[in-house]
Amino acid sequence: MKLFLDTGNVKEIEQLAAIGIIDGVTTNPSLMAKETGDYRKTMKEICRIVQGPVSAEVIATEFEGMIREGRDLATIDEHIVVKVPFTRDGVRACKTLSGEGLKVNVTLVFSAAQALLAAKVGATFVSPFVGRLDDVGQDGMQLIQEIVEIYRNYPFHTEVLVASTRHPIHIVQAAKMGADICTCPAKVIDQLFKHPLTDIGLTNFLKDHEKAQAARV
Ligand code: G3P
Repeated sequence: MKLFLDTGNVKEIEQLAAIGIIDGVTTNPSLMAKETGDYRKTMKEICRIVQGPVSAEVIATEFEGMIREGRDLATIDEHIVVKVPFTRDGVRACKTLSGEGLKVNVTLVFSAAQALLAAKVGATFVSPFVGRLDDVGQDGMQLIQEIVEIYRNYPFHTEVLVASTRHPIHIVQAAKMGADICTCPAKVIDQLFKHPLTDIGLTNFLKDHEKAQAARV
């Protein structure tokens, strides 16, 4: 399963990409609003670091505007994936932009029916938001199970990009279900690394090593 970083912060991306575990980046208008500096330059820099798919979301809400913006975003870098919201105009824009050979991520997906439509219009990625479903008392991961099952029944090429992940259990469950990608905030990636027994084990190994060294002198 691929891991994407859900952020527009170049420093966070640099640090985690250096480890070698980041396959792509997703951004959205809320994440980009936290960043200073020129939008296009930041996106270009993210693409240079990641060398994988980088989602850049359109702001337009009607079809013509989405097409204009999507085509323009795609000129920033070959790694740019145009992100469109799941609306009628967004789905139509996905069909057009995908038909032109651009990569499209259909976002704000909250039902299996929406994911089916996104696949039908050739989305490269579909982004179901699991955390936000959990927040309203629905089982977000149940939706992933349904989408994976539906996509397996047909020769769709759309990849399931699990978004709005909040903790490592989301990531592990997604991997067990066979989702293609999880996008995570840096905080969740940090949590993936952590286990108290690893820390205690390492401390003890090093202590024992020091004791043995001291006994030898
Ligand atoms: O990229 C969109 C998505 O991951 C948002 O997550 O935590 O704002 O629901 P969140």
